[in-house]
Amino acid sequence: MTSVPFQNPYDFFSSCFDQAKAAGLPQHDSMVLITATKDARPSGRMVLLKGVVFNQDFRFFTNYESRKAGELIENPRAQLLFYWPHLGRQIRVEGAIEKLSAEDSGAYWNSRGRGSQIGAVASEQSHPLDSYEAMETRVAELTRSFEGQPIPRPERWGGFALKAEYFEFWEDRVNRLHERFTYQREAGKWKIGRLWP
Ligand SMILES: Cc1cc2nc3c(=O)[nH]c(=O)nc-3n(C[C@H](O)[C@H](O)[C@H](O)COP(=O)(O)O)c2cc1C
Repeated sequence: MTSVPFQNPYDFFSSCFDQAKAAGLPQHDSMVLITATKDARPSGRMVLLKGVVFNQDFRFFTNYESRKAGELIENPRAQLLFYWPHLGRQIRVEGAIEKLSAEDSGAYWNSRGRGSQIGAVASEQSHPLDSYEAMETRVAELTRSFEGQPIPRPERWGGFALKAEYFEFWEDRVNRLHERFTYQREAGKWKIGRLWP
């Protein structure tokens, strides 16, 4: 087998992620989430990584009525893409998508500040908005109506988990002779390989 820094891709990912965090890179926890419709029309956007469960999944939160969620529900597969330029490191993670339980979504909801909670209640993410003022008015109304009370999580807001089946680690090297490692989940084990750059 080819020599690799880690036998398990979650350990490899954690090591890179921790380095990005320690280096103080801005938005080190942001990633591109790539989805596609059933008829294979792709779309990508940034989201924040909000948790990694070892050998299990990668978690993020959003509006379940957004464009991304619609695509994830009709075609439950996605790719996550990380890039930390200062580390010369790119990582792809691919897999199947599942909605998080109401319990897990609720636990994260309760950890968010009130401002973000009101924003999430107000937002019809990805749907047409008449004016910025219309949004400000809705936020002001919600802020008044929830004064002094907890803000319940709307059913249309919650998390997704990407169950990783494939990882690809890319490391910048001189003369574009970059190093690439792949990890493919096969029969409960990680099969490790290399790719030409
Ligand atoms: C750095 C960064 C982080 C973001 N994090 C999130 C996030 O965690 N969840 C989310 O729903 N949108 C997040 N957004 C906004 C999304 O990129 C996107 O505009 C929004 O989710 C609507 O996407 P959609 O219409 O494809 O569903 C983030 C944007 C940026 C630039």
